[in-house]
Amino acid sequence: MENHPLNEKAVSALTDRALAAFDAARSFAELKAARLKHLGDKSELALLNKAIGTIPGALRKEVGQRVGAARAKVHLALAAREKEITSAELGQRLAREKVDVTLPVGLAPVGEPHPITALIDELGDVFIAMGWEIAEGPELEAEWMNFDALNLGPNHPARATSDTLFVDPVENHLVLRTHTSPVQIRTMLSHPLPIYVVCPGTTYRADEFDATHVPAFHQLEGLVVDKGITMGHLKGSLDHLAKVMFGGVRTRIRPSYFPFTEPSAEIDLECFVCRGASVGDPNAPCRTCNSEGWIEWGGCGVVNPRVLAACGIDTDSYSGFAFGMGVERTLMFRNGAADMRDMVEGDIRFSRALIGGAR
Ligand code: DAH
Repeated sequence: MENHPLNEKAVSALTDRALAAFDAARSFAELKAARLKHLGDKSELALLNKAIGTIPGALRKEVGQRVGAARAKVHLALAAREKEITSAELGQRLAREKVDVTLPVGLAPVGEPHPITALIDELGDVFIAMGWEIAEGPELEAEWMNFDALNLGPNHPARATSDTLFVDPVENHLVLRTHTSPVQIRTMLSHPLPIYVVCPGTTYRADEFDATHVPAFHQLEGLVVDKGITMGHLKGSLDHLAKVMFGGVRTRIRPSYFPFTEPSAEIDLECFVCRGASVGDPNAPCRTCNSEGWIEWGGCGVVNPRVLAACGIDTDSYSGFAFGMGVERTLMFRNGAADMRDMVEGDIRFSRALIGGAR
């Protein structure tokens, strides 16, 4: 037995070599190579294991136990080393992937609504706070809604093709709405009385594209129909809106003409730059109001009974007021935006400056 390859010394030398190889492995790849060499099908231990069968009876038990114990020891050592390498590699990975949460980062820019959208929301909120509702209508509008129902007869100059964008084929009598006033008609035809609504929206005219005109612009329409409504309610509502939008400026209404209101008026804002101080003072001219003290904001009036009647409203019991103003103009006044083209060209620097608030 002394010189037999399965003697005690030989087996323990084999075992020691395997343990040393596992110990020396520094990574899973190295450990795998060591495992194949010392425990694989062609390893010396595996071959010895197979050879046990050839040993004559009396010795077989002894040798079998020795080889079995050696294999168990080598397997245990492999498992232990595997565990060590796992935790070492995890430690290295954690160190490698460590994140310093205190490092400053560049924040991704967050989007904002366009200043016109933001202003429309703000205008709407002023009225929602008073219990009014928001009404909406289509931008592609029936000519009848845009004109006839508003008492704008077929020969009214506002129907001239130079202003109105008619949609082909013309026989369909569809236009891109030239104002938000048709929403008044749609509301009166569908909404139970009383009515307290504002209608913000996009409107279109075949206009020049310059500092004070853009072909697609926005208006805010207001409509109230209730019992006992007077011009006083109109003035009070617009004063309130002006106060919220512009601070302490005064408003004035001045006679005008619109076919859908009677009487009609123009609503002016006290010039928020000179507050009227430039009027009659040649030494301090005001460019904002041309030294007139007032700037034009929109149109308004008491709803013409013919319009109410066209919508089936009893004009003996009900009356109403309406107003309409340009949203772009409001933004110009309020934020000192001088050129309307900036509002459609999409340069983010413009929006940013306005959102920052020249209010
Ligand atoms: N629709 C008019 C325009 O676009 C503005 C307007 C004037 C609206 C008087 C009204 C109003 O509701 O009462 O010029």
